[in-house]
Amino acid sequence: MTPSILITGGAGYIGSHTAVALMEAGHKVVILDNLCNSDARVLDRLRRLAGNAFEFEQGDVRDAALLDRVLARHAVNSVIHFAGLKAVGESVAQPLRYFDNNVGGTFSLLQAMERADVRHMVFSSSATVYGDPEQVPIPETAPLKATNPYGRTKLVCEDMLRDLQRADPRWKIAMLRYFNPVGAHPSGLIGEAPSGAPNNLMPYIAQVAVGQRDCLNIFGDDYPTPDGTGVRDYIHVMDLARGHLAALEQLAKRQQSITVNLGTGAGISVKQLVETFARVTGRPIAHRYVARRAGDVAVCYADTTLARATLGWQAEHDIARMCEDAWRWQSMNPTGYTN
Ligand code: NAD
Ligand code: UD1
Repeated sequence: MTPSILITGGAGYIGSHTAVALMEAGHKVVILDNLCNSDARVLDRLRRLAGNAFEFEQGDVRDAALLDRVLARHAVNSVIHFAGLKAVGESVAQPLRYFDNNVGGTFSLLQAMERADVRHMVFSSSATVYGDPEQVPIPETAPLKATNPYGRTKLVCEDMLRDLQRADPRWKIAMLRYFNPVGAHPSGLIGEAPSGAPNNLMPYIAQVAVGQRDCLNIFGDDYPTPDGTGVRDYIHVMDLARGHLAALEQLAKRQQSITVNLGTGAGISVKQLVETFARVTGRPIAHRYVARRAGDVAVCYADTTLARATLGWQAEHDIARMCEDAWRWQSMNPTGYTN
């Protein structure tokens, strides 16, 4: 039986794009998702893009019996673990739910993998583990600290994974620290479909452009940055998806686990992103400046040296392309997967 790659959270934003990249590279894929933050209609879109090269299992990564069945039934030989909750504000209000889902889910998955003798994992970490960075660009050796419960769940998972690989070198783990994933598949068939008002900048801009929201609030114009607005490292989700493929290939080849940043290395301000989106799409983006958002850092972008050296990977798409693809997705699917 041809082995499969298990993608937990594969119906979600980054997972669905990674599933396409893996299938295009000839891999067999099994998606496990409880659909708590995604829509089953994404599966039809994936079939349109990649045919029937994947199986879908609906369920929760905290369900040990289900994991045992899935790992065995599909002859899984490696796992990409996206499943998790990711809204910072919600994590402050509901910390136990976040620890249960993100830490409990990762723990349950690792135990099932050990039972099944599957020891290659790619883990979705985040630049949030750097907290308020002391230097930019941020190298992987920067101090780790979390400023909210969501960030702490990522740090606890990273620590758990580091302990595991120290204890048993048969584990090969890639911890990928994503910066700010944006954009969509160039077909416009899959993309980011937040439920309710988006927390993140790019989907908010896209919803203003399509007429779903009146006006973008820009959180702060008094940061110590060239134009006063916050600076981030936006990375096209298709580049990110390719990064997972590169990580899996390296895990198969190398004797060691890997921890790398996935970003472009370029700092882009809120104002620059808004202006680029308006220029590329021809849609004006109504906006106003409001107070800073609590917990936001001024500047955050990646040192990408290690990703280039260890994965042979670097981001290819620029900010104009990210806006173009985000807009194609949003204009073709004004209300996400529900239309
Ligand atoms: P997403 O919410 O679109 O996808 C996550 C998927 O996991 C959803 O489909 C959800 O239904 C599923 N899920 C959640 N809990 C589950 C559980 N217990 N069992 C089974 N399925 C479950 O989020 P995303 O943006 O694709 O993020 C994927 C991963 O990347 C997350 O772990 C997130 O923390 C991490 N990450 C995301 C970003 C970002 O900006 N999007 C940045 C850094 C890290
Ligand atoms: C957010 C999360 C972070 C997560 C990251 C990637 C918070 C506090 N942090 O960070 O944990 O790792 O996403 O998913 O939620 N902005 C506006 N108006 C908006 C939305 C955002 O001006 O309506 C600004 C922000 O102040 C920031 C920039 O746009 O300067 C990017 O914001 P966002 O997309 O939320 O990403 P992060 O702040 O990097």
